[in-house]
This record gives sequence, structure tokens and C-alpha cells, in this order.
Amino acid sequence: MCGIVGYIGPQDATPIILNGLKRLEYRGYDSAGLAVLENSHIEVRRDAGKLSRLIALVEESPLHGHVGIGHTRWATHGEPNARNAHPHMGMTGDVVVVHNGIVENFLELREELSAEGVVFNSDTDTEVIVHLVERYMSRETGLAEATRSALNHLRGAHGVVVFSSREPDKIVAARIGNAGGVVVGLGEGETFVASDMPAILEHTRRVVFLESRQMAVVTRSGVEVKTLDGAPVAYEVHNVAWDPIAAEKGAYRHFMQKEIHEQARSLTDTIGGRVDFEDGRIRLPELKLTPERAQRIQKIFITACGTAGHAGMVGKVLIERIARIPVELDIASEFRYRDPIIAKDDVVLAISQSGETADTLAAMEEARRKGATLWSIVNVIGSQAMRIADGYISMQTGPEIGVASTKAYTAPLVDLYMLAVLLADLRGALSERERRRLVNDLRRVPDLAGRCLDREAEVENVARTLLNVSHCLYLGRGINMPTAYEGALKLKEISYIHAEGYPAGEMKHGPIALIDRDMPVVVIAPKDPWYEKMFSQIEQAKARGGTVIALATEGDEMISSIADHVLWLPDTPWMLSPVTAVIPLQLLAYHIAALRGLDVDQPRNLAKSVTVE
Ligand code: G6P
Repeated sequence: MCGIVGYIGPQDATPIILNGLKRLEYRGYDSAGLAVLENSHIEVRRDAGKLSRLIALVEESPLHGHVGIGHTRWATHGEPNARNAHPHMGMTGDVVVVHNGIVENFLELREELSAEGVVFNSDTDTEVIVHLVERYMSRETGLAEATRSALNHLRGAHGVVVFSSREPDKIVAARIGNAGGVVVGLGEGETFVASDMPAILEHTRRVVFLESRQMAVVTRSGVEVKTLDGAPVAYEVHNVAWDPIAAEKGAYRHFMQKEIHEQARSLTDTIGGRVDFEDGRIRLPELKLTPERAQRIQKIFITACGTAGHAGMVGKVLIERIARIPVELDIASEFRYRDPIIAKDDVVLAISQSGETADTLAAMEEARRKGATLWSIVNVIGSQAMRIADGYISMQTGPEIGVASTKAYTAPLVDLYMLAVLLADLRGALSERERRRLVNDLRRVPDLAGRCLDREAEVENVARTLLNVSHCLYLGRGINMPTAYEGALKLKEISYIHAEGYPAGEMKHGPIALIDRDMPVVVIAPKDPWYEKMFSQIEQAKARGGTVIALATEGDEMISSIADHVLWLPDTPWMLSPVTAVIPLQLLAYHIAALRGLDVDQPRNLAKSVTVE
């Protein structure tokens, strides 16, 4: 997963950047590179593979200077090879850029720049950024203004760092949305830039965090921050503790909050390397899936526990809808004991963040005994569920510390979507147009998730109204029925409030009896194919005196006119709507628990990895 480190100051930039990148190695990546200003011109070293390869390159062909930027890349557009590794230079060789995120409109921008005579040297989306900066610098604008103009063309969420040999006294860094943070570290006569704090903590504990749509002009003596509209920003300097755990938490109070916020970035990484937006195709090589094997599948059994089980429920809808393969969904602790009927060509897909959950592993063993092909979706590389599977998909979220799973819920949702598209493609179940549309929809996901995160303050306000409730009902339907289950699970796990997720259509068969003023009802009602049914659910709850907290698509005035509170969602393609819809629910549970003063990251009686049956 992408990491960024930059340095400007009196020391040799190369070792500082390489050490910083090392500290981000835990995030996982497939190529690495750095650019240093050496004797007034920019020198780049980069290659596919691990940092050790980059270090060897630098040893063979050293580079020294006082300004530089480095990057570890997890491929999104273009293969993980040397020419696609960052940093990327412009045509003049005077400007260089590293970038985290996805440039959603890169095909349009590439066409526009090509028409202006720009020649591209990589398959990446990132390269458009450096050419845009050059375009504006050639119009006699300084680096900072040129970068600002360039960034205003980008759609999506980004962390970007640039420097130019024409202005060797500065580095420009910017953050748009939530594709990862940008942190500036203030030293004595030297300044650092990074995507994550661990990269720079050994040098300084005085840091400035950029907010979305802010940019920093970084010099040896400090930093100037402005918005992408050009307005100056009065920033705060934070003093962070040396404690590595506290440092990891950054500006967040709890890991859970940090992990919720990491989702735009983890979703970028989830898509990274798997999606070819130009061909409109998905690649999941670790599954080792051939067209013949895909065509033989009669049925898929998904099995998992807890949050992973809810992801599996969404997966059932996606695989059945997109690939037209029947899917059975079992809670792992049930699967094993129900003597499932598994045919030779059936696949059992286990989902597990830790990859070590005893019930899930036992279900996998049972499936193995019955001769199924075993797949897994796991977060922890090298875990048991990965090792015993015939093929796997790794979640790419980075470590999840908070016991209540958040980013390891949204990542498998996207993995399952990609799996469904891949299966459909290999089985010839999709027209090219449909496949391209489904693949293209993925491009917007990180930014849409980021837009939910931007509304945290609104969610916190709703949380204040629910602080003292004893019960809460969550209703959802269709693809967002599991969102109701997951929202309720989050609330009960960390706030200890009794919460139930229910299929909305079942409300009239029982739970409606519970509804009164003391039973708030969270209704998940985005503009998806079940919208009208959900709308009438809100009316029914209101008619019985219930307090309704509705999740609705931005601009839905019908819902805002009847619900007591609305948590707004960006307009999301419905098959990906569980990814965005769960984010306000994660934030809601988080803020209720935090406001109640509870131990959010380690709730009572729960364990992150349950290795007993
Ligand atoms: C525990 C955790 C849950 C988690 C479940 C499955 O119960 O408290 O948050 O969803 O295990 O964990 P896994 O690692 O298999 O995804």
C-alpha cells in the first residue's frame, strides 16, 4: 500500500527517505522509488519489488542531495514494474511527483494532455499530475501555484507530493479527500513530509496534519498551509508522543476511529493491482482461477463469523446477481455441524480478517474433507486461512487493531464484488458493456467512502441524541440487509447497547411490536432497488411513535421530511452501496461508545482473534 516520505534540509536526503520508507514497509507494496535533487537536477531511482532492491540500486548508483521524495507503490493503474513505479517526472525533467490515490478522471486528462503534445512514459494515473503541474509552470507560474491549479483538475481522493529543480527551496504536498493523510514534520532547519507518522517520528515530534483540500509549501524553515482555493490556513502544530502505539494512532482518539478513517485509503489499496480500468477487467491472480474452473462451479458456499459473516451476506447477493452462481451463506460455527451437501466442483469461500478464527478454520477443514475447492479472503498474510486455501484474496487493509472490525469489513465487500465480476467474466455471463460499467464503478469507491467520512461531525451530533438509549433496531433490505446487521453489531460490540439488525420486510412479523418512543429505529434507505419499500418502513415506524434515524442518499427530501435524523450518503452504485452505507453506522457506534467513555478499542468480553471454538 502506498507510502510517501519527503525531506528538505541540510542532511543527505537519501538515507532519511529510505529509512522512512522502511518504517512504512508493513503496509505492503510492490515497487519503490525515490527522487533526489542532485547538483541542480532531479535524479530518480525506482524499481519493482521490495525496498531492498531500491537500496541495492542506490548502492550501485548513489545519489545525494538535500531535497527528495520517496514512495512505496501498490499498483492501481499499470503493472508493478520499474516504469510505473513512482516518482514520476514530467517531460522537462524539472518536476517530479509521488502520489497516493486514484485519479478518477485520468483517461480524460491523459487524452487532453496527449492532445497538447505530452508523451507519457508510464501506464499510471499519477503521471497526469506531473504533466499538469508542468503545464501550469510553463505558464510562468511558480511550483506552488502550478500544483494548486493541477490539483484542481483531479477527481477522486489523493495525497500528492511534488518538487521541482527550478525551485529547489521547497516541496509541495497536498491532500484531497481521504486517500491517506499527509503529515508535515517540523525539525530544526529541516522539514519532513510523509503519508504516515511512523516514517518521520525518529526525526521530530512536532507535526502538522493536512486536512482535505489543503496544501503545504514545505521549506527548510517550516511550512505554509493553504486551501486548494488559495486561502491561507492557520494550522495547529501537534506534539506527538514517542510511544509508537500512540504515534500510530496519530490525531485519532482510538484505533477504531483511525481505522474507520483509513477506509478511503484501504479501498484504494483493495482495488490496487486488481483492476485494469482500461480493459475493464479484474485480476485476482492468487485465486488461481482458470476459465474452465470458473465454468465448472455449480455452487459457492460462503462461511465466516461476525463481521466477516456480514460481508459474506453481501457477497451472496453480488455473486448471485453478477455471476449468476448460487451461493449459500453459513455462519462458520453452523456450517461444520450441519453436514453440508457439497459436490465435487463446489467452492467454499471463507472470509476472515485474522485468518485464525477457530470456527472458520474448522469450517474450512470440513469443506476440505468433503472435497471442495477452498478459497479465502483474509487480511493477515501468512495466516492459517490463507495457507490452507487453494486460492485466496488478501484484503490489503493493513493491520486492524480495534477489536470491532471496520476497514476489514469494507475491503472484503469490494473483494467480493471484484470476485463476482471476475467469475461472471470467466463464465461469459456479462456483456462487455456491462462488465466495463461494473469495473468502472469501482473507480469512485474510495472517494465515495471519503465523502461519508467527511460527514463525521454530523454523525457525532446524532450520536449525542442516542447516548442514553437502551435498545436500537436497525432495518435494511436486499443488499443492505447485512448493513443493518453490521450496524447493529458495531453498536452492541462497543457501546453495550442492545441492538438488533432485521430484514426490514420482517418488521411487520414481530419487531414492530417493540416500536415506541424509547426504541430508535435506524433505517437504511439509500436509492437502491429496495428504496420504496424502505421508505414505507420509515412511515410505519413514524406512525407508531418511533424515532427514525434514516440513512439516505444526498438530496432525498422525501426522507428528510419525515425522519427525525438523516445520515447522508453519497449517491453510490447500488451494488457498492453497502460499502458507503456502513461507514456512518461505524461512526455512529464509535461516537456513542466514545461519548459514553467506554474502552472502544478493547470492548469487554471480546477478542480480536477468537481461536477457540
Ligand atoms: C471476533 C471479533 C469480530 C470478528 C470475528 C471474526 O468475534 O470480535 O469483530 O468479526 O471475530 O473474525 P475474523 O478474524 O475471522 O474476521
